[in-house]
Amino acid sequence: MRGGTLSLVLTSLGVLLLYRILTRLRQKGSVQGVVVVITGASSGLGKECAKVFHAAGARLVLCGRDAGRLQQVVQELTASTSETQKQVSSPSTVVFDLAKADTIEKAAEEILKCYGHVDVLINNAGISYRGNILDTHISVQREVMETNYFGPISLTQALLPSMVHRRSGHIVVISSVQGKIAIPYRSAYAASKHATQAFFDCLRAEMEQYGIPVTVISPGTSKPTCQSMLSPETAPNMEFWTKPRRLVRNQRMLLMLF
Ligand SMILES: NC(=O)c1ccc[n+]([C@@H]2O[C@H](COP(=O)([O-])OP(=O)(O)OC[C@H]3O[C@@H](n4cnc5c(N)ncnc54)[C@H](OP(=O)(O)O)[C@@H]3O)[C@@H](O)[C@H]2O)c1
Repeated sequence: MRGGTLSLVLTSLGVLLLYRILTRLRQKGSVQGVVVVITGASSGLGKECAKVFHAAGARLVLCGRDAGRLQQVVQELTASTSETQKQVSSPSTVVFDLAKADTIEKAAEEILKCYGHVDVLINNAGISYRGNILDTHISVQREVMETNYFGPISLTQALLPSMVHRRSGHIVVISSVQGKIAIPYRSAYAASKHATQAFFDCLRAEMEQYGIPVTVISPGTSKPTCQSMLSPETAPNMEFWTKPRRLVRNQRMLLMLF
């Protein structure tokens, strides 16, 4: 009888332990409550990211230049969620221009004030440009570089110390297949994305010691392609953002589509 009671207690403890391990593993793979900063959240891929992360319970900081457009996104997100979720995770917004170097430090401070830290920084904002080199004024080359390269790297550098201090975080940058292959009439854009690729590759190597993954995503040209990467089946799971290998596979797939 005593032996039976003991084995019952041990079995119950075993089941409880297994349950706790599984719960912890599930929590690790979830974005519930995770602080996600998205630049260029007012449209396109950034807005799609915002929808997916918001639906999955992340705490969002949405960035862009236009306060009105960002508020519109916040309204759309809050209208699409349950009352309970609204209270937990109403998105915050920070308005600034990535092309204006002197605004970035202050923007980073504002971002950190929202929730005290950043878990995932998605450097998504960017501008495109088409034109032949002969007719493209150098000011255009500079403008594309400021927005697509200097802006994201400045913001990343401003937020890095906080991540390094916590030894936690994930930096993501939306580059382009043109960050890997340069094609005619896209000099400004391709150059900015090549520079982005190189910077974040260096950063990945430097951040390894702190356990901070750095992921470069290189989509092809179509919006449906970007959106399919963020299907509700894949994106709400933190695994998608914390397992760079999986992203590399997506990246290869996107390169093949180009
Ligand atoms: N769409 C594609 O086919 C494709 C393919 C490959 C790579 N990508 C890359 O994916 C990213 C998103 O592209 P998308 O097509 O989704 O872009 P999009 O719809 O044109 O949106 C661009 C976003 O960036 C913001 N933005 C632009 N300039 C900014 C600045 N100076 N400061 C702050 N925010 C700025 C815009 O917000 P405000 O105007 O409100 O400030 C907007 O929210 C870009 O990096 C792009 O290069 C896109």
